[in-house]
Amino acid sequence: MLICDEVPHNMRGTETDDRPRSRPDGRAVSYIRRAAERAGMIDLRSDTVTRPDQAMREAARDAEVGDDVYGEDPTVNELEARVAEILGMEAALFVPSGTMGNQVAARTHTERGQEVVCERESHVYKWELGGLAQHSALQARPLDGDDRGVLAPAQVRDAYVEADGHRAGTGLLTLENTHNSKGGTAIAPADIDAAAEAAHDRDIPVHLDGARLFNAAVAHDVPASRFADPVDSVMTCLSKGLGAPVGSMLAGSADFVERARRVRKLMGGGMRQAGIVAAPGLRALDNRDRLAEDHARAERLAAGLDAIDGLTAPTPETNIVVVETDTPAEAVVTACEDEGVGCVAFGEYRVRFCTHWDVDAADVDAAIERVERALA
Ligand SMILES: Cc1ncc(COP(=O)(O)O)c(C=O)c1O
Repeated sequence: MLICDEVPHNMRGTETDDRPRSRPDGRAVSYIRRAAERAGMIDLRSDTVTRPDQAMREAARDAEVGDDVYGEDPTVNELEARVAEILGMEAALFVPSGTMGNQVAARTHTERGQEVVCERESHVYKWELGGLAQHSALQARPLDGDDRGVLAPAQVRDAYVEADGHRAGTGLLTLENTHNSKGGTAIAPADIDAAAEAAHDRDIPVHLDGARLFNAAVAHDVPASRFADPVDSVMTCLSKGLGAPVGSMLAGSADFVERARRVRKLMGGGMRQAGIVAAPGLRALDNRDRLAEDHARAERLAAGLDAIDGLTAPTPETNIVVVETDTPAEAVVTACEDEGVGCVAFGEYRVRFCTHWDVDAADVDAAIERVERALA
């Protein structure tokens, strides 16, 4: 079974777990039990598992707030302005999640029935419940990127469909950086430029799913705005490597963001005194440079895992380590969990480990030892 961030492994129980899977209210018992057992666990399942630090909690407590649906929350307004500036875009919009940011962008850029060109393993196509179709009546046209998830400009050109009496036409190109399913690959600015140019040559707008854009920026030692430059909209998450408890940002032109704000409302994402959750997001922006530590720890983790019999771990480009396993991934995940390391199955013989700000160098060393014990 393939697992991603949206489906925590711990919601599924284990093969040997014979306790009931759900309560009358439908919540998984195993999820609750597992959460308690997770104390002491080195949780490398995802960079979304981080907990807000004291500064973020205090920022939330002390945040100045207002009704953001009226545009009156000063903390949200500050966050939106700050992110727009960082990304070099005219405006930005605070949204509850990365998924909503991508879906709002798709809806805002397109008309019903149009095709969205995307990479086959991309989050927007694979992991968002068919949202392109469900929310916006769009058709996905997935293309096979290379083994790092890069779409070549010729592929983008070939995928273009002109609207006519029979065809709805291409409405959007989406790109992803870093590319989660390909193992956190940091696509180079020149590759984003080339794909975007191919779309723009046909007047097709480009949306960048930059859930981990700041990881890509650190990996290439460029400002994040360098990736925003060639595209029309960017989504980036505060709640992943940056450590905020909630929230993502969607940035673009002032006109795009004004229209996206209406779509956010339509999708139920208009929040009221949202400064409470925006304030930790502002603090999280200070964690951008710290991502280099996660990358270094991921490299150390990969080297340690690669030395274990039955595992092959290529050197990661950012904070995601995808390991090839000799035995089924599900069994590896369960064995690791039993030894106190959280990871997720990422294919039948692939397991993903993520480093993040709740994991230090000692945790990485301990995790390597525990995984070795788990597989002994
Ligand atoms: C590349 C990418 N895009 C979008 C998302 C969605 O973010 P969220 O979980 O905040 O909806 C994720 C989540 O893992 C992701 O990895």
